[in-house]
Amino acid sequence: MASGWGTAQRNLSISGTPLTIGGQKFARGVGTHANSRMRLALYGKAKRFLTKVGVDDSAGGKGSVEFIITADTKVLWRSGLITGGTPAIPVTLKLDGVRELILEVTDHGDGSGYDHADWADAAIEMIDSAAKPVALPTYDTVVIKTDHFSVQFRVGDDRRLYQQSIGLENADDTLTRTEEAYPPSGNGYIWEPALQVIHTDGNTSTDLLFNRVTQTNEAGHSELTKIQLHDPAYPLEVVLCFRTYPAFDLIEQWTEIRHRESNPIQLIRMASSSLVFNPTNLNLMHFFGDWAAEMNPVTEPLTPGIKILDSKIGVRAHQYSNPSFILSLDGRPAENAGRILAGSLAWSGSFQCAFDYNGGQVRALTGLNPFASIYHLAKGEIFTTPAMIWVWSGHGLGEMSRKFHSWARDFGFRDGHQPREVLLNNWEATGFDFDFNRIVALFDPAKEIGAELFLLDDGWFGNKFPRIDDRAGLGDWAPNRLRFPNGLAPLTAAAEKRGLHFGIWMEPEMVNPKSELFERHPNWVIAQPKRELDLQRNQLVLDLTRPDVQKFEQKVIWGILNVPGITYAKWDCNRFLTQPGSSWLSADRQSHLWIEYVRALYKLMAQTMEAFPKTELMLCSGGGGRVDYAALKYFHEFWPSDTTDPMIRATMQWDYSYFFPLMTVASHVTHSGNRSMHFTCSVAMSARFGMDLDLAKLSAADKVVCARTIATYKHIRSVTQLGDLYRLENPHANPRCCMSFVSKDQARSILFVFQMRDAELKPVRPEGLDPKKSYVIRELNPLTGRHLLSQEGKSFRGDELMQNGIIPNCLKAAEACVIELGQ
Ligand code: DGJ
Repeated sequence: MASGWGTAQRNLSISGTPLTIGGQKFARGVGTHANSRMRLALYGKAKRFLTKVGVDDSAGGKGSVEFIITADTKVLWRSGLITGGTPAIPVTLKLDGVRELILEVTDHGDGSGYDHADWADAAIEMIDSAAKPVALPTYDTVVIKTDHFSVQFRVGDDRRLYQQSIGLENADDTLTRTEEAYPPSGNGYIWEPALQVIHTDGNTSTDLLFNRVTQTNEAGHSELTKIQLHDPAYPLEVVLCFRTYPAFDLIEQWTEIRHRESNPIQLIRMASSSLVFNPTNLNLMHFFGDWAAEMNPVTEPLTPGIKILDSKIGVRAHQYSNPSFILSLDGRPAENAGRILAGSLAWSGSFQCAFDYNGGQVRALTGLNPFASIYHLAKGEIFTTPAMIWVWSGHGLGEMSRKFHSWARDFGFRDGHQPREVLLNNWEATGFDFDFNRIVALFDPAKEIGAELFLLDDGWFGNKFPRIDDRAGLGDWAPNRLRFPNGLAPLTAAAEKRGLHFGIWMEPEMVNPKSELFERHPNWVIAQPKRELDLQRNQLVLDLTRPDVQKFEQKVIWGILNVPGITYAKWDCNRFLTQPGSSWLSADRQSHLWIEYVRALYKLMAQTMEAFPKTELMLCSGGGGRVDYAALKYFHEFWPSDTTDPMIRATMQWDYSYFFPLMTVASHVTHSGNRSMHFTCSVAMSARFGMDLDLAKLSAADKVVCARTIATYKHIRSVTQLGDLYRLENPHANPRCCMSFVSKDQARSILFVFQMRDAELKPVRPEGLDPKKSYVIRELNPLTGRHLLSQEGKSFRGDELMQNGIIPNCLKAAEACVIELGQ
């Protein structure tokens, strides 16, 4: 039995005196000292465990402990707080079938001084003829495991927790600090730490020792492992949490921190995840961008030093860099081969993903950006970091994405098994220039070509400061009386009359200085006192840490979504933070703004989802400025970019698809890039399809293409949205972009070919088909006047198709071909 002080004693207290609890003496038992632990192998052959526990009188009435008894990772019994002088507590527990028993005494979080603890009269009753229980090494390994992946942790003799480098086949037995699982700074660890704390007394060092591990099965899908660490010198506890979804090879990881120091401690750094990798052949693929140019991939080998991907802009935080990345353990990542661990941080605020290559290992530290974000953690409060999502694939990027997508359909976004309606948006068609009649005039042609949902974009509100351009009106959410004299209800009724659902745009977090809201509440904005207001798109961010702003934004959203007939909303956010000052947070808590803003935002999003469970929501931030799995959980889809030129979009959608199913990636037909309607429609149809066109101004020929595309989309959406994605030809490296979707039963597949440059005709090799099934080839929505596919109407076996391919009929840049492989 390991003891936190001295050596555990047989039939005596830790001080060597007779075992005595609350004045009662015991001849037999074990005397120990918190934090104490013993592991016993029982082989499923034990019947009962009996004991009487308490603080030994040798502590002179002092001491405070908790006894915990765990059987096969499940806590069987815990005493709660027991203090010195309390009479012995009798315990009798059934042990039927138990293989491993753990006896623990903790200091109950207040330091271990005088924590003399006795397991008096301790006895294990075995079934007749069973071998005696055997003591196991006190600490062992903790394995976080999915179907094809595992991360192994080991407790060292120094009781620190170590992690075996991912990608290292033969782990060496010597444990060095560079492999510490969640290294804290200031006590020997010299590289980029996972945790940096300033304790109440000013001590800048932390040490973390292993306490215990618990594993709980959650509703059959997932398992939650919590590894508790504590600082032996301070009442500080850190819990590393891992939720595994074995079938998806997906792990959600986060960290919980709490303490019982007398005053708040300062958290300087607090990573969500801190995994160590073998650097041999380790490549990082990450994504940078800007407004209208999101998600550009860069792949690079990691080299000694620290590579940081980050955002310090708090809101619309992903404008320049997305917190999703790919680590390939076998050189440059490939679509169908190689070991991959993809990461996606579920956080919509400032983030940091740092890859610290210290010459020996690479440590991936991910989480909140420590930049200007010191968090004062009060006694007893639990600080929960954002979750990091890791997905493993042993066979390249394709398998990785399919696992990500399948998981996301169940857990990552809303209604993931429900195909989406055809949407018509007015933004690219009208901009701010519309009124009741102009919008209603769009409904009939929308219905005629088969649209199912109309989305009214920015520009419908504001009276004293009408929102007729982007200079005024944000914050004043009453419909503009000149444009909509009777409010929005007649508009939604007109849509409903034509069988169209109705959606609306909102940007609840923002305000224009030219607004009644700003006139009334100039102190509601995030700004720095004594500095001139720094506007972006003529607007400011409302300070969502303020309870009055929280109430206001909630009221705005409720007011809009409660209009009868509204079934859909686009939640936009068009600027980031440049002057992070809050009029609500006190002078010494200004650094909390980065974190508290996002927490308040999630609360608002969650309340919205709960209050309007049937309203579909699009996540938008001037395009892809807010794309992550924490926000997406409250939404159905996101607007990836204000760039809608299909030549650019095809590639961008490809890159988003590494992490996000294409049914969450909104893709609208516009005139951007001046491409053919057939090409534009084909690209939009491969994702969450919509149109942003003035149908009245469309040529008759283009209208026909649009109507046919809509009919085709309705025919294929159950496959493209609910099926598995196979990326076939990468547009970054090939003259065309090819991908296909395969229905889960492998009965149908839809193949998309987008020609990026002129090229010779070559077959495309589909994947994911059932080799033995026959598939009939049929071009969908064929381009008028173009020759038929040479294989049109013919039937081939899946294995033949996957080997010999299908010859499309497009070869010039900006041409497309969509092919169904059906029964
Ligand atoms: C930015 C969005 O990305 C656009 O689609 C549009 O909704 C505008 N905002 C409206 O202001």
